[in-house]
Amino acid sequence: MESTFVMIKPDGVRRGLIGPIITRFEQKGFTLIAMQFMHLERSLAEQHYGEHKNKPFFNELVEYLTSGPVCAMVWEGRHAVANARSIIGKTNPVEASPGTIRGDYGMDITGNIVHGSDSPESAQHEISLFFHSAMSAPMFMEI
Ligand code: CMP
Repeated sequence: MESTFVMIKPDGVRRGLIGPIITRFEQKGFTLIAMQFMHLERSLAEQHYGEHKNKPFFNELVEYLTSGPVCAMVWEGRHAVANARSIIGKTNPVEASPGTIRGDYGMDITGNIVHGSDSPESAQHEISLFFHSAMSAPMFMEI
């Protein structure tokens, strides 16, 4: 079984979309393994988006991600990374199909509501970045 990292970004939290987004993952068949409501330190936001540090939008992205609380989650399921990306939709909400989270709730590429890992390797990296020691604690091993 695969795990993926999903984060409801500040605009998703501000707009009261935590419930609807969690419902979509549950309805798809995912199992929620861990969840953390948190206000990110700048350093964690910079680490999370490290691969984009040379992009022109990096600063705006980090400012945005630290502008309010986020909801960080680990979801488990078959082909979890690919299935999560399919229900999340394309990065730019303008191009995301209706029926996807970004297609239904988003308008802006920075404030695109939710982040989902783009590969199993990124998922493991992002899970350890946000949940580190907690993920090895017994409460997360079995439900
Ligand atoms: P996310 O899936 O969280 O991963 C990287 C984020 O960078 C992406 O969502 C967008 O919010 C942001 N992003 C990607 N491309 C651009 C772009 N061209 N301009 C601004 N932000 C971008």
